[in-house]
Amino acid sequence: MEAPQSQPNTAYAMPRIGDTAPDFEAVTTFGTLKLSDYAKDSWLVLFSHPADFTPVCTTEMSGFAERKPEFDARNTKLMGLSIDSVHAHLAWVNNVREKTGVYFDFPIIADLDMNVSNRYGMVQPNEATTAAVRAVFFIDPAQKIRLIMYYPLNVGRNMDEILRVLDALQTSDKHGVAMPLNWKKGEKVIVPPPKTADEMNARIADDSVEKVDFYLARKELQEA
Ligand code: BEZ
Repeated sequence: MEAPQSQPNTAYAMPRIGDTAPDFEAVTTFGTLKLSDYAKDSWLVLFSHPADFTPVCTTEMSGFAERKPEFDARNTKLMGLSIDSVHAHLAWVNNVREKTGVYFDFPIIADLDMNVSNRYGMVQPNEATTAAVRAVFFIDPAQKIRLIMYYPLNVGRNMDEILRVLDALQTSDKHGVAMPLNWKKGEKVIVPPPKTADEMNARIADDSVEKVDFYLARKELQEA
């Protein structure tokens, strides 16, 4: 028997890096939106919060709103989600604007039937059965899931880290490189290690990159 939709549904496989992002149509504070239309030709950061009118969530949503110009500059759309009604979302959006002047200028999904949160593994029943954990999905313009973060209810996310990994993914795609520990935009990147003996010998002879050894080489990017 199919599980009722308003319950956490553990029958869905957890989404994984590299999977096509499950498409959906959902009621949001910007009307009914389909993911594949909303994020057509752009990156998407899809994130969940446990509940409207709660303190940590208010700081996080305000963080997304305040840093939205930085997402815009990275061709990245924002979309929030919680298992609350659109009326609750709108009352919260308006309350935060009245109290702090910060306006959540991005759609927030009202996932009352848990359709989206179940498909994205956002309801993790050993943490909470009626609320989404703090998830962040980085979805590229080909609608592939590229990076996933899950945080528990009691730990807020870090907006600098969210923007840092977005920069890392976009820079990696553009230049075919990888990012070392603590990398930030503008810093040296990792050159992919050789896969054959010929490539190894070429790397050993290559003085254009900064090497610890042939398998660990860094370079500056002309354009980050
Ligand atoms: C909060 O955002 O403060 C919060 C939400 C749900 C559970 C615990 C904390």
